[in-house]
Amino acid sequence: MRFVSLRTGEKVPVLGIGTWHMGERKAERPAEVAALQTALDLGLKLIDTAEMYGEGGAEEMVAEAMAGRRDQVYLVSKVYPHNASRKGTVAACERSLKRLRTDRLDLYLLHWRGSYPLAETVAAFEALKAAGKIRSWGVSNFDVGDMAALARVADGGDCLADQVLYHLGSRGVEWRLLDDCRKSDVMVMAYSPLGQGRLLQAPALKAVADKHACDPGAVALAFVLRRPGVVAIPKARQRAHVHANVRALDIVLDGEDLSVLDAAFPPPKRASPLAMT
Ligand SMILES: NC(=O)c1ccc[n+]([C@@H]2O[C@H](COP(=O)([O-])OP(=O)(O)OC[C@H]3O[C@@H](n4cnc5c(N)ncnc54)[C@H](OP(=O)(O)O)[C@@H]3O)[C@@H](O)[C@H]2O)c1
Repeated sequence: MRFVSLRTGEKVPVLGIGTWHMGERKAERPAEVAALQTALDLGLKLIDTAEMYGEGGAEEMVAEAMAGRRDQVYLVSKVYPHNASRKGTVAACERSLKRLRTDRLDLYLLHWRGSYPLAETVAAFEALKAAGKIRSWGVSNFDVGDMAALARVADGGDCLADQVLYHLGSRGVEWRLLDDCRKSDVMVMAYSPLGQGRLLQAPALKAVADKHACDPGAVALAFVLRRPGVVAIPKARQRAHVHANVRALDIVLDGEDLSVLDAAFPPPKRASPLAMT
């Protein structure tokens, strides 16, 4: 496993597993737990979840998957913007901890920017940190201007991560946000790194995957992971997909591969608003 080193001294695995649309149906719980346990067995010890996913169901499923091995996991959850007041953030975190059957989160994120002042949410995050309920905090879906606004808030500089949409078919963050985050030592968590699976039929991706004798998913992940300070959190309910995705860690894309991918998925030529889908 490769790691991103945080300014807190912690090391985060560059490849983890997401849980959106998990924990929604009881009948699928055993397969979902098995997929997460396979991921942990293979070293993908970063789990990304949120109070939103399955309205708490995903967090409960995660608790089942990491039973007996909480200490091995870098656990990330998120607060809904409509809960992100000074008091509401603390209460939401406590509900998440209960569902996750743990006493702390490694990273707690504001899911997207809402109407509560950032100063309130940050004050709550700092209080949760002081109480040992979270180790660090960050944000999600924050564009360049949102990050600048956050930096102006008291303790805003303690933000450790920005989780954003980043995959071959959506490269807008390459224009500026990735560099800004790198400069301020903010980890970028690439969500939907497989374009929710829709990317994977692209002939260019297939050609590069054939060359490396791997799955197109592994190439898509290797593409985002070649950037320093970036981690990726693909979701895979099928264990075969988890196995295929781990191959990303062995793949080094060369100049020829990158030319093929750039031709099919051009890099940004100008600034654009941060995409969320
Ligand atoms: N912060 C935010 O606002 C935000 C927004 C979206 C997502 N996220 C996080 O990011 C995670 C990942 O994003 P995502 O779930 O939107 O999409 P994704 O990871 O890009 O794609 C997931 C889809 O790809 C399929 N898949 C996985 N590996 C594959 C492979 N090797 N070959 C073919 N198909 C494969 C999965 O199928 P199976 O499940 O059938 O295996 C699933 O249908 C989420 O689960 C969530 O934790 C955060």
